[in-house]
Amino acid sequence: TVSALLPFAIGYLLGAIPFGLILTALAGKGDIRAIGSGNIGATNVLRTGSKGLAAATLILDVLKGAAAVLVAQRYFPGYEIAAAAGALVGHLYSMWLRFQGGKGVATLLGILIPLLPLAAIVYAVVWLGLLVTLRISSVAGMSAAVSAPIVALVTGRMDLVPALAVFALLVIYKHRENIARLRNGTEPRVGRSRA
Ligand code: G3P
Repeated sequence: TVSALLPFAIGYLLGAIPFGLILTALAGKGDIRAIGSGNIGATNVLRTGSKGLAAATLILDVLKGAAAVLVAQRYFPGYEIAAAAGALVGHLYSMWLRFQGGKGVATLLGILIPLLPLAAIVYAVVWLGLLVTLRISSVAGMSAAVSAPIVALVTGRMDLVPALAVFALLVIYKHRENIARLRNGTEPRVGRSRA
């Protein structure tokens, strides 16, 4: 409906802010899109060698997702999903990056914190758990994304299942280069020299 457009647009504008690109450039480390996987997310910012920049990227990408849903909860009640979708689409297809963008793992975590806190907790546990054991950020992130619609299903939040399922599919779609690297065994691990 028309009423969903404004919360979607506000979410989009928040999500479209490419924090990884901005912080890396401000720190004098060049264009993040020319480094590592070329992604604008925290994992790739870590490949610049700066843990601080990576942590800041992670936190800001989480916060923009959370902010979009919080704005909807306060000013557009009933349109939280529209705002969440806007934030995720904004991050994945940013107007500032010729509609290219990131892979959505941090932004989706931020969306879940106000939308479905239990799903955010499960998401963070799945993500961190797989990150520290496998040390493959893409696998950890995609698995976390898939956990979100499952938590909604199990907890009876059927209203959120379709959107969260689509969000997970979008995150997986954005990881298609990672999936290709995983299949031919060239996906790099976090915290080790590049494969
Ligand atoms: O959140 C992005 C992560 O899942 C993969 O990042 O840079 O290894 O493609 P990257």
